[in-house]
Amino acid sequence: MVRHRKVVSLKTDKIDTSSSSGSSESSIGNKTFKFLSVWKTGVGVVCFLIAVYISTLGYLETRVNTPFDDDKVVKETGLQIPERYWGTYRPGVYLGLKSREPRSPVFGMMWYELSAATHKGIRHWCDQNDNLATYGWLRHDGVTFGEQLITDLPHNITTSFVKTPGGEHGGHWTARINVTTKGNARVPFMLIWYAALDESLGPAAPHSRLWYEDGSILGHTPQLHNFRINFVPYKGKLLHTSYSEAHAPGLHLLKEKFYSLLKIERSSMFGKLAVLGPDDELNIKEKDINFVPIQLLVETPFSIDIVYTTEDLSTPPLMGDKYTRALEAKKMQFDLEFEEKFKLDEKGYPPQDVAIARAALSNMVGGVGYFFGASRVQSQYTKEPVPYWRAPLYTGVPSRSFFPRGFLWDEGFHGLLIGRWSPDIQMDIAAHWMDLINVEGWIPREQILGAEALARVPKEFVVQSNAAANPPMLLIQLAHMVKIRPELFVSGSKHRNTLDRMYSRLQAWYQWFQVSQRGDEPTSYRWRGREDDGLQLNPKTLTSGLDDYPRASHPSDIERHVDLRCWMFAAADAMTTIADVLQRDSSKYEATRDQLADEDLLNDLHWSSHTQTYADFGLHTDAVKLVRQQPKNPNEGARVIRTVTAPPQPRLVTSAFGYVSLFPMLLKVLKPDSEKLGKILEDLDKPDLLWSPYGLRSLSKSAPLYMKRNTEHDPPYWRGQIWIPINYLALSSLKHYAKADGPYAARAAELNARLRDNVVRNILNEYKRTGYLFEQYSGEDGKGSGCKPFNGWTALVVLIMADEY
Ligand SMILES: *[C@@H]1O[C@H](CO)[C@@H](O)[C@H](O)[C@H]1NC(C)=O
Ligand SMILES: *[C@@H]1O[C@H](CO)[C@@H](O)[C@H](O)[C@H]1NC(C)=O
Repeated sequence: MVRHRKVVSLKTDKIDTSSSSGSSESSIGNKTFKFLSVWKTGVGVVCFLIAVYISTLGYLETRVNTPFDDDKVVKETGLQIPERYWGTYRPGVYLGLKSREPRSPVFGMMWYELSAATHKGIRHWCDQNDNLATYGWLRHDGVTFGEQLITDLPHNITTSFVKTPGGEHGGHWTARINVTTKGNARVPFMLIWYAALDESLGPAAPHSRLWYEDGSILGHTPQLHNFRINFVPYKGKLLHTSYSEAHAPGLHLLKEKFYSLLKIERSSMFGKLAVLGPDDELNIKEKDINFVPIQLLVETPFSIDIVYTTEDLSTPPLMGDKYTRALEAKKMQFDLEFEEKFKLDEKGYPPQDVAIARAALSNMVGGVGYFFGASRVQSQYTKEPVPYWRAPLYTGVPSRSFFPRGFLWDEGFHGLLIGRWSPDIQMDIAAHWMDLINVEGWIPREQILGAEALARVPKEFVVQSNAAANPPMLLIQLAHMVKIRPELFVSGSKHRNTLDRMYSRLQAWYQWFQVSQRGDEPTSYRWRGREDDGLQLNPKTLTSGLDDYPRASHPSDIERHVDLRCWMFAAADAMTTIADVLQRDSSKYEATRDQLADEDLLNDLHWSSHTQTYADFGLHTDAVKLVRQQPKNPNEGARVIRTVTAPPQPRLVTSAFGYVSLFPMLLKVLKPDSEKLGKILEDLDKPDLLWSPYGLRSLSKSAPLYMKRNTEHDPPYWRGQIWIPINYLALSSLKHYAKADGPYAARAAELNARLRDNVVRNILNEYKRTGYLFEQYSGEDGKGSGCKPFNGWTALVVLIMADEY
């Protein structure tokens, strides 16, 4: 219609011109003049427009990496928070300490077995291929101490640390490494401890230095002043020591550098022995030394104290029996505090299960790292990826082996648990994330900061697009904390002030979702960033967090996603809560929340009266499959591509029944008396759909893509496996509906109790069987799958056991 009207008006213009053209000869010169001036003006306008266009482009191009313009949320950093200055903030290595300082020196451990060095290699980064029987923190309070057990058969390596606070430069700390061998055998074993300086921010010299002196590592940095690390054997025999003062090309290449420093020495006791020697790669100057490893050949059982001292603190450092006693006291204190917070003993869990829960919490808290660097980001206006601004991130990593970096939506789930343990830590983590928001209101989803983090990410996942969202779980977690711990946010309190500084950023983030992820229909939303490359059985929606969960088969602008709409409801609800506690105007958020809670609107967009389920809408066909294509040319390999045997139609994607269909319940959008809730609860309990004795499956067994590969190389991920964060949301919503006065309360209560038992039992059993928490669990037999250890949101099992959800 609009188009048609335009044509008509053009015609009218034309008629006007032709009728005037014949009116007078003398007007020709005038007309030419007019034409010239019009032409000139035209050129001027065009030039102006080009200039505007270019400067706008330039402006738009810079927006993606321009920080949000307001006070930073993080006010105190580094030594201003002395109690959290030192920590195991390098979760990607088996044991690594550093301070919360961009240019902190880093310390760490490596080891190898003398007899198996050639086939096992040197252990350093947490690596699934090392096939360790188990490793992880048994206790870690995130602040003062931690104790970890690493089982690298036939050895147990226990690593612990205790901090000694005080002074102006961060205090002392002691790390103990204790190696025992099966059957108490006495075997030679190589332990390595190193100190290194990070030069990725430019050369640390001339202000920072590391060197070796008389069996110790010494150093100096502007923040720490002079420090020293002494090696004090506690039990067992130290057979041989060697060291090196070296230059490593980066923190991500320490192990490689270490290898290159080994030289074979003949030893009367061991025949040939690889020992550290001088760095002969370059004629090294003192100021170039940035890597000082010490290799200790020991005989197990062996235990050593690695004692870091700062010059300015006169309190003696912990070592020997004094350390043993201090560690025991810390452990006892930790257990008391754990029980006080989660009451698992009181709830009747046996000691073995309580120990697993303690380890789960400890790994969540002990998996908190401190990173510094710049992401690579891209917008539609930048030709190439550009660097984000350099910034720190204090974050709990989902997995020390596989995902040792920050993830936006994971962090919201982590926060539910970390916030229960230590609001200080969680508010600081959230503050760091909020400082990563840009002027557009966007926060990059995956944070790859620094050389060590970058070295562990496949190239194709490095660049972050500013069109990409990720569920606003962190916002929801903040509001949850306000609700359950109102006393932390009373006027004038520390956390209230932090939340207040966050507010403008939270508003911007929320608004960014509203604008950038809006759908075509009113009150609908669409995840951006789905791409059909013709290879994927169903194009992924990485931004939704549910990666390969089946959506419309053919991505298009008419698509609308029911999970995102529910996230936006929860986000509007969270903004309302936060605005209210800060005594700001919440009316706008409240209005959006209420609109998104309107079930008629929701049902119009997403309810299928045919299948009686909620679903996405889009261009969809179920008639897709992966087929192997015969190569045209005999030199090429066969390719597996997707074929479509019936054209897609605009429709609800009802065949993909699973987590996405549950979102109106999961995020408590539905009213307690909603008939749709009744139907969801009924479906939830069906073993041939989502219900399993181990938790809720992500995708129904009846769905066409249940446990189907997405491409030749892409195994199923969110296509049936059980994921703990969504089971957590399910439990939380079941409890909510059980408490609400409604016709389904009893049903919800009963499902809640059974689901909780299933989830808890399976996670604990798998931990006992394998020594790990997993990324996901099989919907068929409950076995752990995906990567391990996965101490991110799977650690929510602690809250589930505690019935705190
Ligand atoms: C080292 O570990 C063994 C086995 O767990 C334990 O018996 C011993 O007390 C530990 N030694 C020290 C010094 O912590
Ligand atoms: C290692 O520690 C575990 C757990 O404490 C224990 O059961 C096992 O016997 C230990 N193994 C060795 C080799 O010391």
